[in-house]
Amino acid sequence: MKPRDEVLRTPGMLRTIPGVRSTSPLGLLMQRHILKRMLTISEREIRSQGPGRLLAVCWRQWLAERALARRGIRFRATAFGQVLAAYAAMTQAEFDAINGPQAWANWRTIPRALSGHVPDRPLRVLDLGCGTGSSTSVLAFYCPAGARITGYELAEPMLAFARRREYRQRDGSSVNVDFVCQGVTEPLRESDGSVDLINASGVVGHHLKPATIAPLIAELRRVLASDGVAMLDVGPTMPARELRRLMADAGFAYLGRYRSWFGDRTGELVFRRDA
Ligand SMILES: C[S@@+](CC[C@H](N)C(=O)[O-])C[C@H]1O[C@@H](n2cnc3c(N)ncnc32)[C@H](O)[C@@H]1O
Repeated sequence: MKPRDEVLRTPGMLRTIPGVRSTSPLGLLMQRHILKRMLTISEREIRSQGPGRLLAVCWRQWLAERALARRGIRFRATAFGQVLAAYAAMTQAEFDAINGPQAWANWRTIPRALSGHVPDRPLRVLDLGCGTGSSTSVLAFYCPAGARITGYELAEPMLAFARRREYRQRDGSSVNVDFVCQGVTEPLRESDGSVDLINASGVVGHHLKPATIAPLIAELRRVLASDGVAMLDVGPTMPARELRRLMADAGFAYLGRYRSWFGDRTGELVFRRDA
């Protein structure tokens, strides 16, 4: 095979494009977007899925958060012990109420972040800080058929709810999902380069800080395949600018920011692990 030839691996085939350098911008573009088919999700489909009535969802959140505060449960924290204690003390109904706006946003932000960035083939996926599985359900729904998803979560009571859910793909088929109870700044269980996609919704931007995220970024770098994608939420504890800087320092290319609606001050940043 000539060294100048572009080698393209697509499911079930190996092809070369004579005369196109594998490192040239044209070669990379062809590899990623033309011959390697990418998952695309239309805005029309995104708008037709998921919960509606954001105002009612926010109202329920406000009431539930006030009731929890009266019992001394404060989940808006970055101290590991406080976060664990707060989430572990909630009933499923309380969690669903305080997480309502996040669940509402997940159905919009996650598919927008996925579209055009991951290949349209069975993917190995992690959902970090999966809670009761709201973000995991959205990933299961939109990821290509044959995906295998592992949810990581700190609070075991949340996982008890997550395990009871059914996870279905767009065509109604059930999705292979399992869970691990541990913090996301501890070493992940996956082997080097074995993961295609890592998602975090409502976790990085609310419970991690620039000073505490380093072990997670090192693990993203280790477990993601080259060309693997990380979709990480930003928010009050993790500003977008800081996360972009830290990820760039770790060798990730920034692909864009996706929000649930134009006034969303959080959203997810999408990064690709460069080889
Ligand atoms: C706002 S909820 C979001 C849950 C889910 N991702 C969703 O979008 O519905 C945040 C979740 O992250 C978990 N969490 C917070 N810090 C964590 C950490 N360091 N490691 C693992 N899970 C964490 C909490 O226990 C909680 O279930």
